[in-house]
Amino acid sequence: MSFEEYKAALGTSASRRALLFRDGRPFHVLLSQQFSRDDLIHLTDTATSIRRLDRHRDGRDFLRGLLRGIRVMNLFAQPSTRTAESFIAAADKLGATTRLVADIRTSSFSKGETVEDSVRTLSSFFDTIVTRHPEDDFAVRAAWGLQRSSRPIPVVSAGSGKSQHVTQSLLDIYTLRYSLEQRGGIDGRTVLLVGDILRNRAARSLAYLLTKFDVARVDFVSAKNYLPEGGLVQYIEKHGIKVGVDDNLESYLKRRGGEVDAIYMTRLQQEWDKGDGQPTAKGGELGTEDAFVLKSEFRSLIREDCVLMHPLPRVNELPESWEDHPGFVVWRQVRNGMWMRAALFAAIHGADQEIRARAVRLGLV
Ligand code: CP
Repeated sequence: MSFEEYKAALGTSASRRALLFRDGRPFHVLLSQQFSRDDLIHLTDTATSIRRLDRHRDGRDFLRGLLRGIRVMNLFAQPSTRTAESFIAAADKLGATTRLVADIRTSSFSKGETVEDSVRTLSSFFDTIVTRHPEDDFAVRAAWGLQRSSRPIPVVSAGSGKSQHVTQSLLDIYTLRYSLEQRGGIDGRTVLLVGDILRNRAARSLAYLLTKFDVARVDFVSAKNYLPEGGLVQYIEKHGIKVGVDDNLESYLKRRGGEVDAIYMTRLQQEWDKGDGQPTAKGGELGTEDAFVLKSEFRSLIREDCVLMHPLPRVNELPESWEDHPGFVVWRQVRNGMWMRAALFAAIHGADQEIRARAVRLGLV
């Protein structure tokens, strides 16, 4: 199968499942669309089991033995604080060992080595590759290259260009499910995503994942230049979900604020202004314009039980004054990143059933 054929096959649900899952478990993790509702329920329940086992002395020792001998390569060609460290912490919780390459210039990519040759080399020493790269297709190309090799190890995207940030959206769904648990869960909810949707891979991946639930509405508030592209809107609508698009947060909240169950704020992704996805030079003006800032004065426009989320890093779009709002769960999202990524490693390497069984046996779930 050529790379073009592989990419095209990822566009349909049946072939996507065949390519990205093995024995019903995720193998490569490349796209939010690859997960079913049942997969998401299973992963989030596993994350809860891991979180509770980790608090239990015997549970913690049990977790540490599960992936002993598994080696994880974190290959990060773009900056990261949360994702890289939470993948390392997640692996650590399950006893796997990790290595981080955070400056890709120190690898042979800088000598012109192809993606395929590089990941094939890494597969000799590692059992999973986690990769963040400014190119949308880097992780897909790595997975395709490994499929054709004699040692096809799993590839997990930790952020693919402007396109997707699958594992961020998994932890976001976990946080939403957990935050809305007492109110009947994610089904029937209205979720508002604010900011640079065109270039924010976390918001885009979350929008895809929301279609796995029976949400009532997905609304976007975004500057005209950064609106979600037609394909994403059509995908959501195809799942029977209403989509709204607006270009001013204040006027949107005055009309609909009381109906919104969760707000997902994002920053202006200025690292893409030059087109390369690398950090914006210091001294440049950072931050979004006023129309896309969740100002403190909007507090009366939303409900006290509205969930407030942000993938971080933030600049000016979600002021610190919101941190005492009852729905502010941004720091919980960060922590959940570790549990959800541990659940993903467990599912990929076949330790998830054992985790769930042990949590039941210890009376933790
Ligand atoms: N949310 C997120 O991806 O953060 P990092 O860029 O710090 O990994």
